[in-house]
Amino acid sequence: MIRARITGTGSYMPENIRTNFDIEKMVDTTNDWIVARTGINERRIAAEGEYTSDMATRAAERALEMAGISASEIDLIVLGTITGDYPWPATACIVQNNLAANNAHAYDISAACSGFVYALGCASDFLQAGRGKKALVIGAETLSRIVDWTDRNTCVLFGDGAGAVVLETTEESDFGILSSHMHSDGSYLDLLYQPGFGTRMTPSAENIDNRSAYLKMQGNEVFKVAVRSLTDVSLEALEANGMSASDVSLFIPHQANKRILEATAKRIKLDDDQVYINVHKYGNTSGATIPVAMDEANRAGMLKSGDIVLLSAFGGGFTWGSTLIRW
Ligand code: COA
Repeated sequence: MIRARITGTGSYMPENIRTNFDIEKMVDTTNDWIVARTGINERRIAAEGEYTSDMATRAAERALEMAGISASEIDLIVLGTITGDYPWPATACIVQNNLAANNAHAYDISAACSGFVYALGCASDFLQAGRGKKALVIGAETLSRIVDWTDRNTCVLFGDGAGAVVLETTEESDFGILSSHMHSDGSYLDLLYQPGFGTRMTPSAENIDNRSAYLKMQGNEVFKVAVRSLTDVSLEALEANGMSASDVSLFIPHQANKRILEATAKRIKLDDDQVYINVHKYGNTSGATIPVAMDEANRAGMLKSGDIVLLSAFGGGFTWGSTLIRW
């Protein structure tokens, strides 16, 4: 049986750090409130002139370098993002051009914070179906440009960054991506979305001035559904593979909020040392959180051959999904 295995990881975080103390000067909030409610201390903000495609390209280059392959060997590039360089064409095509990955086809996936897990599922299915041998899967976001920096309910949560993995086919069927589970429920649209600019809310100075175009969220409602969905989809992955929480070497959840992660881990019955958390450093970078965390864990030597790694994500749509990997 052919499976898709991760052979390289990479990430890129912008240099500019925005701390909670910086945000104290922008909106009516405090470092203590942000830390207590979210676990976030600081986040990265893309430099002027730095775009999602730039960060995605840097992360992809690092993943390719680790895998020891050249961009021309890549058959497919899938990029999970909701903050692409343009409404269209796909930012994945810009990355393809930057990398000179001339033998790949490239597209974006819009699944908000579940974008990377969705992209990984699609790329894994593509390789397992024998349609190609190597794929790049990326999560990259510049959320700082769609967040309303006058809205204390949302602006404290989000940041920018990118992560990427190289996927290659393997005949060793015990290794690689064991399963992907993806779900969505469009009835929750109003709890988390960006009204503009699309074809419903077309660009106007008024929509910018009155802030109606920016990211909107009802945080406490999102919180409840996020914990429930992340728990359910994590257990779904374990059950589908005949495993339980004790089999998990490392749980790498979408880094939305420390309280969401801790509540989810508790419900799955995972110990603290089974859970990877870096939300304090980067905030919520949407589609980028999981590949960035995976790259950090990998480069820190925390992912060893044979380890069971569980990824779970939740985001606007609502969308949610999980991936179970034997590393
Ligand atoms: N600083 C200080 N006070 C703030 C604040 C801030 N940055 N943001 C909100 N508040 C206030 C609210 O105005 C409210 O005040 P009120 O009681 O006077 O009306 C109070 O804090 C409580 O607000 P609430 O929204 O109930 O707080 P909460 O405990 O739910 O925490 C979030 C707010 C946003 C941190 C939390 O709901 C959350 O993390 N939700 C999930 C968001 C998320 O992860 N989204 C992405 C999913 S992929």
